[in-house]
Amino acid sequence: MYRTKTCGELRKEHNGQAVTLAGWVDSVRDHSGVLFINLRDRFGLTQIVFLQQNNNSLAETVRTLHPEDVIQVIGTVGLRPEGIVNKKIPTGEIEVAAAQLSVLNRTAAVPFLPGAPEIPAEETRLKYRYLDLRRPVMQKTLMLRHRITKVMRDYFDELGFVEIETPMLGKSTPEGARDYLVPSRVAQGQFYALPQSPQLYKQILMIAGYDRYFQIARCFRDEDLRADRQPEFTQMDVEMAFADMEDIIGVISTLIARLMKNILGRELTLPIPKMSYDDAMERFGHDAPDLRFAMELIDLTDIAAKADFRVFRSVADSGGRVRAINAKGAAEKYSRKDIDGLNAWVIDQFGAKGVAWLKVDNEGKLAGPIAKNFTEEQLQKIAARLNAQANDFMLFSADTFAVTCKVLNGLRRRLAAELNLINAKEMNFCWIMHFPMFGRDEEEGRWVAMHHPFTAPLESDLPYLDTKTDADAPAKIRAQAYDLVLNGFEVGGGTIRIHDSKVQSQVFDLLGLPQQTAAEQFGFLLDALQFGAPPHGGIALGLDRLVMLFGGLDNIRDCIAFPKTTKAADLMTGAPSTVADKQLTELAISVKKPAPVGFLE
Ligand code: AMO
Ligand code: AMP
Repeated sequence: MYRTKTCGELRKEHNGQAVTLAGWVDSVRDHSGVLFINLRDRFGLTQIVFLQQNNNSLAETVRTLHPEDVIQVIGTVGLRPEGIVNKKIPTGEIEVAAAQLSVLNRTAAVPFLPGAPEIPAEETRLKYRYLDLRRPVMQKTLMLRHRITKVMRDYFDELGFVEIETPMLGKSTPEGARDYLVPSRVAQGQFYALPQSPQLYKQILMIAGYDRYFQIARCFRDEDLRADRQPEFTQMDVEMAFADMEDIIGVISTLIARLMKNILGRELTLPIPKMSYDDAMERFGHDAPDLRFAMELIDLTDIAAKADFRVFRSVADSGGRVRAINAKGAAEKYSRKDIDGLNAWVIDQFGAKGVAWLKVDNEGKLAGPIAKNFTEEQLQKIAARLNAQANDFMLFSADTFAVTCKVLNGLRRRLAAELNLINAKEMNFCWIMHFPMFGRDEEEGRWVAMHHPFTAPLESDLPYLDTKTDADAPAKIRAQAYDLVLNGFEVGGGTIRIHDSKVQSQVFDLLGLPQQTAAEQFGFLLDALQFGAPPHGGIALGLDRLVMLFGGLDNIRDCIAFPKTTKAADLMTGAPSTVADKQLTELAISVKKPAPVGFLE
């Protein structure tokens, strides 16, 4: 038997017991003949102690140990003397007096010490992920992830949901990203697509009568990566038959309340507040607003339209918008140089032409380089609308609605962080409702689905599917769609689906999908919809993002055991990599471009 207890298990009440422990050497200390080892496993840390004078050969072995050697210790539990009780760890009241020690495996020189407080460089962590995953904080996060999925599984099981696996090798499902393709050997020249989500399979399961489905589903999307996006990520994927928006929102809200209770020990007051997409864009400039702080966007277009300021007025005259935020009490914090930095940042990040600003001076007046462009009365109106008070700092964006959204959402989030306006402990949930069904791809001059093309329009907006009299009518269609937002991150999204094949065909038509293409790509769905499809809908929660936010982390890479870099590379295994010519020949594939040099670095 390698061990009788783990390194996190022993307490005062084990005093006097004989135990065998095994684990990794975290550290070794030699206090003139009194030797200490901190022994670590994923359950905790236990102090091992013995006197050299009692066992000289044991002391010799200990002096050869290095951190991360794997050892086994046989000894007796004893209470630590009063002065050296360590209140910071659960095993801090005891230590194990060693009688025997075996080295189970020695380590090579490690690139970093998992037990050390410093965080190694990210490339090093990803390359030696096994060492990184030994770090207690990483172990804590993966345990958290396990507990979150366990709560979810139990919850859905209690409510009669069935966990069903859907294929990885399938047909492309449009979720708006690029597919990862897998070549077929049997049918050369043909490809499977890895699922961007199990969307169509789960709809088909509803048509097949399974009524309530869930799956912890791996999804693959070849898109630009960011701190909250991975090419391969996990969804808690859900679908319900005979359900409307409120049914789905209700089931998920109760799940979130349970997670808050079981994981964080906190009560969440239900219902979770709802906000329309239009309100979110108007008040926060973003469809996943961070509601932990105010600094709302205020419209000033009407005032700008009458002002003598060319920059604002021309925007107002050409149908754009002039909007602003007020960073309360921040005037002194932002120097001219800082503001130049903000100006350069919005130009670079959001394609803006700039950002204008005003501060409230000591006499309570609005001051700044653009102040001269307004009459006293206009300045007063601006001050009133922005609720300007002493030491306030106001930032203005004049542009198309879309650009003002991006600029002011960006500035709002950035300033809130810089001004410490965010309570990091707060968990602020809201549902964003009534998304537009279609967006306009101006480059290609066509409609695109905002969520995915299987989303049902609001009943009342169905007439706008008809473009005969008004080509722009589809812009008015709101979808039966809802997103769950937590602290400014989209952590889930879902919709009620179209269950009528005629409406589905109409939507494909509107999206400019020729009938033949629709039939080729989704014929199986259109067929299935004709064989008794119940009304149905669902949602998918982004598991990695939920773990990140429940764990108070700021990067989803830290919530995934084996994540990829922003270049979609796995630094530990070296994937992606070239393959043997024989494999390519079997697949009838010839590679036009050699692999880029240094891709994995
Ligand atoms: P959607 O595309 O909104 O919906 O995805 C659902 C949730 O998954 C998370 N997510 C991601 N997490 C990490 N990395 C990514 N690249 C990534 N992309 C998305 C987000 C998001 O809210 N089939 C629909 C769901 C449905 O309609 O039922 C879907 O996939 O948290
Ligand atoms: P100008 O009079 O063109 O020098 O601009 C005055 C200020 O307005 C400068 O600080 C610019 O960065 C800023 N500015 C320029 N264009 C815009 C815009 N579209 N929205 C907000 N501010 C702008």
